[in-house]
Amino acid sequence: MKIILDLDTGIDDALAIAYALGEEQAEILAITSVFGNINVKQASMNAAYTLQLLGHNHIPVYKGVEHSLDTTYYEQKQGSKICHGENGYGDLEVEHTSFCEDKSAVDYLIEAANTYKDELTIVATGPLGNIAAAIQKNQVAMKQIKQLVIMGGAFGVRGNISPVAEANFAHDAVAADIVLRSGLPVVMIGLDVTLRTLLTRDDMSEWKQYGKAGSVYRDLVEYYIQAYEKFNPQLKGCALHDPLAVGAALHPSFVTTFPLCLQVMTDKDSLGRVVIDKEAMSNGVPRTCHVALDVDAQAFKQRMLQCIEKVFQNVTE
Ligand code: BDR
Ligand code: CA
Repeated sequence: MKIILDLDTGIDDALAIAYALGEEQAEILAITSVFGNINVKQASMNAAYTLQLLGHNHIPVYKGVEHSLDTTYYEQKQGSKICHGENGYGDLEVEHTSFCEDKSAVDYLIEAANTYKDELTIVATGPLGNIAAAIQKNQVAMKQIKQLVIMGGAFGVRGNISPVAEANFAHDAVAADIVLRSGLPVVMIGLDVTLRTLLTRDDMSEWKQYGKAGSVYRDLVEYYIQAYEKFNPQLKGCALHDPLAVGAALHPSFVTTFPLCLQVMTDKDSLGRVVIDKEAMSNGVPRTCHVALDVDAQAFKQRMLQCIEKVFQNVTE
């Protein structure tokens, strides 16, 4: 399966990269970066460093949009700083590596959609600015892709950035609304399922033996777990938001989905809230958004850990 990862590389995005690289049937064509947990320059550097750390620096990184569609600047949110650190990488050192292609992420996405058509899956685990901009620039091209798997939204559960909204959707609600109403085949992996897939310190017990990659990832996840301990102690672990989107792309049986027409609220009070688009539904618009409502957390986590450890092992040898 040909995959582009569209990421705001923070800690769970970094886990998603390691997991995707370990899935044999996944061919990672590129990473496109977007602002979100950090600014887009830092997101690109974090992605490039992660690829280098894992021995895959042949995979190109394309820099994407710098701020949400309805603003003119980026400012890191307090919650992002707490969960991912000021640099999005648990405040660990991110070694400088040559990090970006000249082409923009948006142009690359359109070019890839035209080249690979229904062979292409995009997994988007940050705010949806790159995807929305690509749709606005060339909807016909983007509609050819096989599927867009999104980590974002809170459909039937409380939000994590406000009582009604999840962070990726709230960080660029206008973009999320454009994407969900575009008619692209979407799988929405929201908090409904990601808060049920948790990583604990025990799950990382094997990572000690895997040299630098294992130790960087242990430090990253430790940072993330400590943030969860502060704000969500009842969960007893950190949520595998972004890796689950990769899992759902490659193993649809990990999640149970329901097809709907969806929209994202853009008014101040409910910014980023995802709801059913009643008008579209009653007008018979095809239900192209498949919302995940249930997850086989155990099967997913087992597979993810297996893949990540394989990647660590290959880079250690
Ligand atoms: C999402 O927001 C970001 O902080 C995480 O990387 C994840 O993509 C969870 O709401
Ligand atoms: Ca993310």
